Amino acid sequence: MDPRRILLAISGGIAAYKAPELVRSLRRADHLVRCVLTPEASRFVSPLSLQAVSGHSVRSDLFDAGEEGKIDHIGLADWADLVLVAPATANLMAKMAQGLADDLVSTVLLATRAPILVAPAMNVNMWSHPATQSNLATLRGRGVSVIGPDAGELACGWEGLGRMSDPGVIAEAVAAQGVPPTLAGARVLVTAGGTSEAIDAVRSISNRSSGKMGFAIASEAARRGADVVLVAGVTSLPTPLGVRRVDVQSALEMRETVLAEFDEASIIIKAAAVADFRPAEVSDRKIKKEELAEGASMTLELVQNPDILREISARKGDRTVVGFAAESEDVVAAAKRKLVRKGCDLIVANDISRNDAGFDVDENAVLFVWPNGEVEELPLLPKPGVAAQLFDRIEKLREG
Ligand code: PMT
Repeated sequence: MDPRRILLAISGGIAAYKAPELVRSLRRADHLVRCVLTPEASRFVSPLSLQAVSGHSVRSDLFDAGEEGKIDHIGLADWADLVLVAPATANLMAKMAQGLADDLVSTVLLATRAPILVAPAMNVNMWSHPATQSNLATLRGRGVSVIGPDAGELACGWEGLGRMSDPGVIAEAVAAQGVPPTLAGARVLVTAGGTSEAIDAVRSISNRSSGKMGFAIASEAARRGADVVLVAGVTSLPTPLGVRRVDVQSALEMRETVLAEFDEASIIIKAAAVADFRPAEVSDRKIKKEELAEGASMTLELVQNPDILREISARKGDRTVVGFAAESEDVVAAAKRKLVRKGCDLIVANDISRNDAGFDVDENAVLFVWPNGEVEELPLLPKPGVAAQLFDRIEKLREG
């Protein structure tokens, strides 16, 4: 089960300003969030903002008689299903390693029996200092999980490791805590996003796929412990946690990458919206309107792209291959025909005539269409929820 009650402990570094965004990401994922912060953290982020976004009063003082009367510090430590420390400064990590309890945050961290996830953020030299690395090893040895830090330009002006991970990525790490690794040992290959078929040096044909559905699938597979490769077409989404990503543009490039990853894969899910056609000729320069007679039309000749799903299904062996079907009418009949034509193990059909599901929205309403004729209709769900339902079915199929 996902941890539901998250106690967010914020320590005094510049990355504390990202705490409200982190709280919002956690709440979007249906977690209940309470915040505690060190007095130094409250110089970077206002307790009032945290109270507004979390929906709970925010505590910083260990001996606040009024607040202790509502929920005392041991009560807070016991309330949490997970304690998330973000940002975790070098100082707080040192205190945790030493078992110090000289303020509310360190006291709660010593008292809690809940799992702890830390997201360090500090100057690159503080991070690489042997004292910090030794504290980190001590914490890891006690079962504390760590996310980040990332490399990049730091607020102090230095470059290197020390940036707190992105709030969305931390929220994914929280969601992954406590999830049984039911896909450990499996290699999952997912395609996502639309392909882009070049016309000339600046123009292309593409589609409205945002990649959200495929990225949610890749993220869910990683949560369940799979080794995940995500072949991403045109999308602006960040790479999900624990996923290896290969970016491609055209259907031909997608085919080449999928075939290169095919041998090692045990589960293949093709959520990408692959262009069925591409321009027969691609100009390596910009085609100019002035080259045509005034008012003349232009004809673009298209040729068919290879059908990647059909090709891999034909030689899938004991792999599980899942295709998607984007249909705007007669969804079930069309999906059944597609299942036969493509030869995969399951078709996930979505009705793209709805504007609350399918392309470029956060939710999807899908039907699972099985080779035995069975059709299972799911309600409108957030795309991560659809991904979870899909893997529940795939795991059952593979057990059988
Ligand atoms: O990315 P989002 O904005 O989140 O939107 C999600 C989605 C609507 C794109 C997704 O849920 C979806 O339906 N993806 C498949 C879209 C599609 O291309 O469907 P299709 O019916 O044209 O293709 C059927 C299947 O064959 C798909 O698995 C497709 O990846 C595959 N295919 C299609 C053509 C081709 N040349 N090669 C293929 O492998």
